[in-house]
Amino acid sequence: MKVAPSILSADFSKLKEDIKTVETAEWLHIDVMDGHFVPNITIGPLVVKAIRNHSKQFFDTHLMISKPEDYLEPFIRAGSDAITFHVETVDNPLAIIQQIHELGAKAGISIKPKTDVSTITPYLENLDLVLIMSVEPGFGGQSFIPESLQKIKALAKLKEKHGYHYEISVDGGINQYTSKQCIDAGATVLVAGSYIFNADDRKERIEKVRYGR
Ligand code: DX5
Ligand code: ZN
Repeated sequence: MKVAPSILSADFSKLKEDIKTVETAEWLHIDVMDGHFVPNITIGPLVVKAIRNHSKQFFDTHLMISKPEDYLEPFIRAGSDAITFHVETVDNPLAIIQQIHELGAKAGISIKPKTDVSTITPYLENLDLVLIMSVEPGFGGQSFIPESLQKIKALAKLKEKHGYHYEISVDGGINQYTSKQCIDAGATVLVAGSYIFNADDRKERIEKVRYGR
C-alpha cells in the first residue's frame, strides 16, 4: 500500500520543511488546478521544479486543468514522475497517454465522482494509474463519497480479470476509516491531504492511512 500526501494541505510558505515531514510516504501528490476545470487555482511547473530538489519521492501529479495536453512536457521536465489527467477534459485520451509515455513518465487517468468507470475502460490496458476522485475536485477537506468504493471494486476486478498493471488510487476525504474501506475494496494508493497535514505527528497519520487503523 502506497501513501501519497497531498501538498494542497501543506503550508506553502514553508513547503520544503513540510515535505520533509511526510518523507516516509513513497509518493507525493501534487494538485494542479487552473480555475477553469475546477474553481480553484494552485501551482504550476515552477513549484514542482523547486520542490524536486528537496524530495526523493515519486511525484504523482494530478492535473485538474483544461487542455492537459499543453502542459505534459513542462511538468515532466520539472520532475513529475507520473501525470494524471481527467478523462472529462480531453477528446482523445489514448493520444495523451502515449504522449506522457513518450516523454518518459507514468500515465494516469482520473474520473470525477459523477463520471462512470465505463468512460475509461477502453484505456485501462495502457494505464499505469487510475485515480478515483472520492470528492468533487477543487478543494481539500471534504467528506468521502461512499459510492467511490464501487468504482474501486470494479477497477480491481477488471485488473485481475485482464492482468492489467495500473495502480488504483483514491483521492479525497481519506482518513484512517475511509482508508480501510478503500484498501478492502482494492485500492493500492491512498491520497490524503488534510488528514495528514492537519496533524502534528504526520508520520503516524501516514501509517494510519497505510494500514487503515
Ligand atoms: C482535491 C484534490 C485532493 C485533495 C484531497 O481536488 O485532488 O488531492 O488534496 O484533500 P483531502 O485529503 O483533504 O480530502
Ligand atoms: Zn488530487
